[in-house]
Amino acid sequence: MSNENNIYPIFDKTLQRSDREKLLKQRGKMIWFTGLSGSGKSTLAIALERELYERGVLCQILDGDNIRTGINNNLGFSEADRIENIRRIAEVSKLFVNCGVVTIAAFISPTTAIRNMAKQIIGEDDFMEIYVSTPIEECERRDVKGLYAKARKGEIANFTGISSPFEAPENPALSLDTSVLPIEESVKQLLDTILPQIENK
Ligand code: ADX
Repeated sequence: MSNENNIYPIFDKTLQRSDREKLLKQRGKMIWFTGLSGSGKSTLAIALERELYERGVLCQILDGDNIRTGINNNLGFSEADRIENIRRIAEVSKLFVNCGVVTIAAFISPTTAIRNMAKQIIGEDDFMEIYVSTPIEECERRDVKGLYAKARKGEIANFTGISSPFEAPENPALSLDTSVLPIEESVKQLLDTILPQIENK
């Protein structure tokens, strides 16, 4: 086998995803939360992970502020940087999903194009989109990190929902508005949607 770049991938020699899924007794899946800052993505991701863990399901959460202090600490919030942010996250997620892990991403991922890119990288069959549809008025009222106040004062540029766009997904597997649904109810709906898809008995 020759290769003009001197790169020889070994994908065909490693154990397969199905081998790892058998070991874990589950199926890998991407649970992709999208929604405004303060909508409840991280809270739902954490609660979901806990419930799945108690049912013996191995998960890994990838979350905006964590990833942006590590692998993506050189990225800001321009359109190009948000695309690169999500591209790297999707590539990393793909490795986890390929490992048989239920991978839970909580990123604003503000546009249809950005989410489609993630879906293409990870693979459509493995990608489940969850829209945390909490209205901006409620996110701004909560203002957990004080960022909406700063954005209104013009102290943060390109703030999603205020000076940068957010496009609601058109066809999510689930829409959850945390301003009206108690967290237990949202988690129940998530489990009902996800569990049948990750079972591997
Ligand atoms: S994304 O748009 O690239 O998907 P990501 O989810 O990684 O965003 O990061 C969003 C988090 O970064 C927000 O919850 C908030 O804490 C912080 N943040 C800082 N500046 C901005 C900004 N201009 N727009 C949105 N979020 C911001």
